[in-house]
Amino acid sequence: MGLDVKNILKKLSFNTFIPFFYPFMMLPLKGFRKEAVQMCNFKAGDKLIIPGVGTGYDLPDIPLGVLIYGVDISEVMLGIARTRLKLHEKNNNINLSIMDAEKLDFPSNTFDKAILGLFLTCVYDPQKAFAEIVRVMKPGGEILIYDHLLRTNKWTQPIISHLDVLMKYNFCSVIRIFEDVIKNQPVTVVQVKKGDPFGFIRGFLLRKDV
Ligand SMILES: C[S@@+](CC[C@H](N)C(=O)[O-])C[C@H]1O[C@@H](n2cnc3c(N)ncnc32)[C@H](O)[C@@H]1O
Repeated sequence: MGLDVKNILKKLSFNTFIPFFYPFMMLPLKGFRKEAVQMCNFKAGDKLIIPGVGTGYDLPDIPLGVLIYGVDISEVMLGIARTRLKLHEKNNNINLSIMDAEKLDFPSNTFDKAILGLFLTCVYDPQKAFAEIVRVMKPGGEILIYDHLLRTNKWTQPIISHLDVLMKYNFCSVIRIFEDVIKNQPVTVVQVKKGDPFGFIRGFLLRKDV
């Protein structure tokens, strides 16, 4: 991937301390993750891309027969995903590689499905990464986003922006707004699901316009 200055701190965090506490942070999301993945209408032979696949928590919920391409910038997160696959899965349709999702090494119109789980709040430039995903999707392809992307809120925004300064370079941003990330892209939102009573985590199913 070469020297990637904008991702230096993030790669360092995801290759050192984050993998240790990541499983504990993910526990509250376990139930909703499955529900969110089920928002996709998978068919056998579908090609699925998972940018920022991390340690592979989504993989067990994807039906067999789907061809999965997971990419990530962290060797350690991807290494854990590979170990987990060896231990638990008999699915040969999973390809995991180190790749910057802001510059995907796939031709346009390749994928039928994409799952962006806790990714758009983590990647350095969410607009650029989302545009890249839209580029590699086939027209009519489904993009599932589940994340703590916010609604516009002028009252809470100034407070949490302070917290954001501490977190956005080495872990995740807490002030990204769904509408800002997807704006100007040829996609339509077809379903939204709350992941908790307050809607802090939400699932969004989008379709690339034909
Ligand atoms: C919060 S984790 C989410 C992992 C997984 N999707 C999940 O739901 O558990 C975000 C992941 O995105 C990866 N990531 C951050 N920036 C990236 C980029 N530019 N390209 C690919 N992966 C990236 C991180 O290394 C990390 O594994």
